[in-house]
Amino acid sequence: MARSRPMSRWTLFLSFVVLIACIVVPGVTVKHENFKTCQQSGFCKRNRALADNASAQGASWSSPYELDPATIHFKDGQLNGILIKTTSTHEKLRLPVTVSFLESGAARIIVDEEKRLKGDIEIRHDSKANKKRYDETEKWVIVGGLEVSKSATLNAQTETGFTNILYGPEDKFQAIIRHAPFEVEFQRDGETHVQINHQGLLNMEHWRPKVEHQEGESPEEEGTWWEESFGGNTDSKPRGPESVGLDVTFPGYNHVFGIPEHADSLSLRETRGGPGNHEQPYRLYNSDVFEYELNSPMTLYGAIPFMQAHRKDSTVGVFWLNAAETWIDIVKEAANSNPLSMSAHSKTNTKTHWFSEAGRIDLFVFLGPTPQDISKTYGQLTGYTQLPQHFAIAYHQCRWNYVTDEDVKEVDAKFDKYQIPYDVIWLDLEYTDDRKYFTWDPLTFPNPKGMQEKLDESERKLVVLIDPHIKNKDDYFVSQELKSKNLAVLNKDGEIYDGWCWPGSSNWVDCFNPASFPWWSSLHKFDKFKGSLSNLFIWNDMNEPSVFNGPETTMPKDNLHFGNWEHRDVHNVNGITLVNATYQAMLERKKGEVRRPFILTRSYYAGAQRMSAMWTGDNQATWEHLGASLPMVLTNGIAGFPFAGADVGGFFHNPDKDLLTRWYQAGIWYPFFRAHAHIDTRRREPYLISEPHRTIISQAIRLRYQLLPAWYTAFHEASVNGTPIVRPQYYVFPDNEAGFAIDDQLYLGATGLLAKPVVTEDTFTTTIYIADDEKYYDYFDFTVYQGAGKRHTVPAPEDKIPLLIQGGHIVPRRDRPRRSSALMRWDPYTLILTLNKKGEAEGSLYVDDGETFDYERGAYIHRQFQYSDSVLSSENLGTKGAKTAEYLKTMAGVTVERVVIIDPPKEWKDKSTVVIVEDGAKTGSTAVLEYYEQESGKASYAVVKSPNVGIGKTWRIEF
Ligand SMILES: *[C@@H]1O[C@H](CO)[C@@H](O)[C@H](O)[C@H]1NC(C)=O
Ligand SMILES: *[C@@H]1O[C@H](CO)[C@@H](O)[C@H](O)[C@H]1NC(C)=O
Repeated sequence: MARSRPMSRWTLFLSFVVLIACIVVPGVTVKHENFKTCQQSGFCKRNRALADNASAQGASWSSPYELDPATIHFKDGQLNGILIKTTSTHEKLRLPVTVSFLESGAARIIVDEEKRLKGDIEIRHDSKANKKRYDETEKWVIVGGLEVSKSATLNAQTETGFTNILYGPEDKFQAIIRHAPFEVEFQRDGETHVQINHQGLLNMEHWRPKVEHQEGESPEEEGTWWEESFGGNTDSKPRGPESVGLDVTFPGYNHVFGIPEHADSLSLRETRGGPGNHEQPYRLYNSDVFEYELNSPMTLYGAIPFMQAHRKDSTVGVFWLNAAETWIDIVKEAANSNPLSMSAHSKTNTKTHWFSEAGRIDLFVFLGPTPQDISKTYGQLTGYTQLPQHFAIAYHQCRWNYVTDEDVKEVDAKFDKYQIPYDVIWLDLEYTDDRKYFTWDPLTFPNPKGMQEKLDESERKLVVLIDPHIKNKDDYFVSQELKSKNLAVLNKDGEIYDGWCWPGSSNWVDCFNPASFPWWSSLHKFDKFKGSLSNLFIWNDMNEPSVFNGPETTMPKDNLHFGNWEHRDVHNVNGITLVNATYQAMLERKKGEVRRPFILTRSYYAGAQRMSAMWTGDNQATWEHLGASLPMVLTNGIAGFPFAGADVGGFFHNPDKDLLTRWYQAGIWYPFFRAHAHIDTRRREPYLISEPHRTIISQAIRLRYQLLPAWYTAFHEASVNGTPIVRPQYYVFPDNEAGFAIDDQLYLGATGLLAKPVVTEDTFTTTIYIADDEKYYDYFDFTVYQGAGKRHTVPAPEDKIPLLIQGGHIVPRRDRPRRSSALMRWDPYTLILTLNKKGEAEGSLYVDDGETFDYERGAYIHRQFQYSDSVLSSENLGTKGAKTAEYLKTMAGVTVERVVIIDPPKEWKDKSTVVIVEDGAKTGSTAVLEYYEQESGKASYAVVKSPNVGIGKTWRIEF
């Protein structure tokens, strides 16, 4: 939910009337005037002007930053020194720089400002704002991977004017640091992959006292230095101009990916105009953008300033650790096509330019060489995806709003009546008493416990909305405590900040304050949040934060947080501080009852993956928004936050049956799969849709449930090495250039399942791009597709999801339909097997209790399935822990009930049995093998019936 307009119940009613009146003109667009363009943002304009000056001057441009050689000190994997900035008035400013070479192979460059570190500055307007540049982003974001490399060494063969460091695996990486002008070139195997300040755009706007000019004589460039107004709000900027900027060049790289959140293609576009390009830089300033537009670099709700650059056989990346408003320009240019050049790579250089309004320069550089290496190293720093509770990866039913507890029970009963599985029902804002969180509306939700108990009968869950804005009302206990404990965000004058949000006049909890954590935890306790049970989970919305009457619908930048940090300094991490506090609260709800928290967040930053799932906010019920959801979800995945989804059906407006059906067929491929709808829309629970659409939608949801074992395995993989749960083409085939920009088809984990959802109207065939020359089989009827590097036409009637499986895989699934995923816990498995050209296949399965943290003590099953030389085997990938034996015992009765082999060897026609050998057994038993001949382009298949081997056991099946 969240519609960023202040609405009382009355205006809500009125807008409903207006909506009816406007029903014939559904076209909506974002209110551009509510959000800044680069030209309207002082520091964006200044940094772009710097780039323009540099490119206008070409070779004669020289960066005014030099590393003073006398200050350089290299020890224990870390180089320290002082950068000297020479200003236009020939002042020399000292900027301490650190370059760290990490054990993980990443490098980190930090630049700060000496005067500000020493507090040797004056701040205007008697502001209490912290004098330092914000250096605590990492406190919220980085959880590991900072060990410096002991093996990094100075390269003795360095020319004067340079300091070169060898580091990384087998010293294959080298950082070539030029002193004057300062520049760092990162090499892998002797080839340059990343250049820092190569374009000379390094910029640290140093602190300076304000010089009062005669009226009318202020230099134009100072126009936005000391204060800045937008949309009727004035930012007092007590520290004056303080932006930081830096250019990062990827020589020979044609594609860059990442930096969510934007509603745009996976392969990022150029941002300096021209056909097909953007005019504006990609912006990262977490905002509640009402009715956002597509194909746009505009900011949205979340920010992950992490970018991967990719070319054939090489991926590198950078992570810009800064929590302030950030913009990123991207320009691609023809590389100097020197015929003597050794490089066999792309003739394009991608030049990026990053700048933030405040904070320090803090940049991580990753040298790959594979996308998996980048995911892993980045994840060591910011953490991997939390392994979610199992229910969280099933289907979620939400709308703004289920209006009473009886309504919830009725929806629950209807799903059962129509035999459509679902796991979670959600309550938006209106369940509260007058928009006071941690309370229930006494008229509409008189019996919340009864409702949750009813849901629990089929092990279903409830998620309720809890937002960071607290209704400013004297008789509301949460408001009283917020104030008495001094835990609210303050305005620039140090008073409690008051703004307008859902409840009307509101205050905001300041989760930067450590004291907010125990308090926030106390509010979630079962005895404080009365009526909540242990199957209730939390949705943190509006945490950008959204402030209806604030500048750009958020807080004033000169508001103050704990530590006297200005909101300007911390804006983009604000959202995850709330999620972090909620995560802690969910762990502490009741002693001895520790379950993995489930939290959905709208606002996010790098690191959010450790604590939450995200969705793409308030999308619209249009085909275009359906299409846009795929690159958005894929982008989140490669930026390390793969537990992502979009509102199925579209939030605003009413989807027609075809759109809703196609949206479900696409939505089952979102790692986070939730239907949601605006309060003004018609009810659209899947059982309400008429036939044949109801059945088609039910089948799509059931397909998700059938494949939950494969999904959970993919989530597990993400939780240990950072790989995306759904993967784009380039990630799976990093050497296949024709696939790099493809973002409308996706792979589920490492399963070989390749889905191509239909996202356009009246479309009944589609094409799927296949990169390699393995056979691909239609998942449902085994039609064979083969042929590398081309698009294959695939039928896509409305009741069919275009879905292929590549040869060479073993995919685990569960075929028995149930009401909820928890009820599938003891069901047997089916294994689907396809052979590759060598006649081999492999796959894996991860299972645990789906609920507790016992897996950390060995309570899980992790199997590697292998087929070669006519033997299918299951080997253990797990390691024993204190709880292993106990868990295996509970799973002892869970078996494989069926193995389906697609396109088996022809000789199998004459076979009727297979031999099954369980670990340790002296003799095997047999099971029936049935062979099914198929014609007209469809592969034959064979089925092993009831092998009944234990899912947690070691065994082999001999064909
Ligand atoms: C750009 O160049 C002009 C002319 O040399 C100069 O006046 C201006 O200050 C420069 N701007 C920046 C941001 O460097
Ligand atoms: C929450 O933030 C603290 C730092 O304040 C950090 O140590 C902790 O790891 C975070 N929690 C999670 C679940 O990431």
